[in-house]
Amino acid sequence: MDYFTTTSNASRRAVDCVIVGIYDRNKLSSGASEIDTASSGELKRLIKTGDLSSALGRCTTLTNVGGVRAKRVTVVGLGKISKFDARAFRTAVAAAIQSIASTRSSQILNTLTAEKVKGASAYYLGRHTVQVAGDVLYRFTQMKSGKKQAVMPLKKIGFSVADRGDAAKLKRGAEHGRGIVEGMSLAKDLGNLPPNICTPSYLARTAQKLASGNGKLTTRILNETDMKRLGMHSLLSVTAGTAEPAKFIIMQYKGGGSDKPVVLVGKGVTFDSGGISLKPGPGMDEMKFDMCGAAGVIGTMATVAALKLPINVNVIVPAVENLPGSKATVPGDIFKSMSGKTIEILNTDAEGRLILCDALTYARRFKPDAIIDVATLTGACVIALGHHHTGVMSYSDGLANEIVAAGASADDRGWRLPLTEDYARQLKSNFADFANVGGRDGGAITAGCFLGKFTEGLNWAHLDIAGTAWNSGAKKGATGRPVPMLSEFLLARCGALP
Ligand code: BES
Ligand code: MN
Ligand code: ZN
Repeated sequence: MDYFTTTSNASRRAVDCVIVGIYDRNKLSSGASEIDTASSGELKRLIKTGDLSSALGRCTTLTNVGGVRAKRVTVVGLGKISKFDARAFRTAVAAAIQSIASTRSSQILNTLTAEKVKGASAYYLGRHTVQVAGDVLYRFTQMKSGKKQAVMPLKKIGFSVADRGDAAKLKRGAEHGRGIVEGMSLAKDLGNLPPNICTPSYLARTAQKLASGNGKLTTRILNETDMKRLGMHSLLSVTAGTAEPAKFIIMQYKGGGSDKPVVLVGKGVTFDSGGISLKPGPGMDEMKFDMCGAAGVIGTMATVAALKLPINVNVIVPAVENLPGSKATVPGDIFKSMSGKTIEILNTDAEGRLILCDALTYARRFKPDAIIDVATLTGACVIALGHHHTGVMSYSDGLANEIVAAGASADDRGWRLPLTEDYARQLKSNFADFANVGGRDGGAITAGCFLGKFTEGLNWAHLDIAGTAWNSGAKKGATGRPVPMLSEFLLARCGALP
C-alpha cells in the first residue's frame, strides 16, 4: 500500500475515486466545495434536486463529473458540523469505502482528512482511514470454490491536508494503520477458518510461520508430554476427550533490549462443544470462534512485527479442542494445576479458565512488566456488556486505566468490571481448593476472579472478548478485535504515538 498527502485541489488528481462530504444545512466540506467549483456547481445542483444527503454515512457516487480528473466522486453525508468528531469521521469513511467496494478503484483520495474533526489529530485521521478501509474491504474467501467475490484492489490512498505541517504525522498514522490492518486480517482469518482446519496444530504452524525470517521473533511449541512434565494438569484436563493434540505456543519478540516484556496470553479453544457438559445444538458452530483470544494476540504480534516496535512482547497460546469422549473429563473430577492449586471441575464447559490458569502460571518465568490475557471466556460477559465493549478486569487501577484508554483511542472500546473479594467467594469447593464455576450470577466476574487466583504479584489484566470478537447473524464472522486495542496499548507503551 502506498500513501500520499496533498494540499492541492481535489479536482486535479487523476485517482479512481475522490471522497468528499456534505454537512447538514448543505455545507460543503473543503474538498466538496472545490469539486463543486471545478464542475461549475454540480454538487450544489444535486443538493437542490435532493440527490445528495447530508445524513451521516449516506453516500452517492458520481461518475464523469465535469472539470474533475478523478473517475468517481463519492459524496458522503457528514451530519451536523458541530458533531463531526473522530467517530463520525470513521463512520463517514467506512460508508464511503463500503459504497465503492464493488468498483475497481485502486487509487483513492480522502479529502475528509482536511476537515476539522473534533478530538482527532492528523495522525488519527491517517491511521483510521487506513484501518477503516482495511476493515471494510476484508473478505474471507479461502473456503469458497469457483469464482471468488471481487475485492476492491486498493493500492494507493491519498489524504488531503489543510496544513502541510500535518503531512508527516498523517503518513505516520497511515503506516501504523497498515500494521494494525495486517494483524486484524490475520486474526479474522484465524477466527473464520473452520474448526477442522484451524486446529491447535494449525495455530502452532501459523505462529511458526510468522517467526520464520524475522530475526526479532522466535516461536516455540510445547507438546502434551512437555505440558505433563510441567504439571499443566488443568490445561490437559480440557484436551482429554479429543484425539486432536493440544499445543502450547510461545512467541517472543525482542525489540526492547533488556526491558521486561509485556506478555499477552490468548485462549485458543479451536472448538468448544462444552465437553461432557455439552452445549445445546443451535448455534454451536459459532464455538469455532472460541480461539479468538489466541487470534487476537497472534494478530497483535503480527502488528508488532510489521511495525518493528521498540518493545519486548511475548505471546502465549494454550491451544486445545474441548470435546466429549470416553476419556473426557467429567463433572466432579479434580485436577492439580501447574501452580499447585487444585480445581474441582463442576462444569466442563468452563474450560477457558482451565487452560488460561496454567498459561498464566507458565508466564511467570518471563517476569512480565504487564500481563494481559484475552479470551472469549463467558456468555455472561455478553449479557453484561453486549457486543460493544470488551470486559476489562484487573486488580491494578493503573493497568486497567491504560487498557481502557487505549481502547477508547483505538475505537475498540473496553469497560471495566469490578473484581472484588465477594465474587471470588462464589468459587468455593467442598473438595478442592476451589471450583471452576461460581454460578450464573456475575459469571464474567467470577471467571475473572478464578484467573486472579493465579496471578498474585503480577501486574495482570483480563479481557473478556466473548461479545466483541465476532458477529453473529447475516454478518457472521470474526471482527479482528481486540487487535486495535492491544496495538494501541503497545504503541503507547513504547512511545511510538505522537
Ligand atoms: N466459550 C464459552 C463462552 C462463550 C459463550 C462465548 C457464548 C461466547 C458466546 C465458554 O467456554 C463457556 O462455555 N462458558 C460458560 C461458563 C459457564 C459454564 C460457567 C458460559 O458462559 O456459559
Ligand atoms: Mn465452554
Ligand atoms: Zn469456551
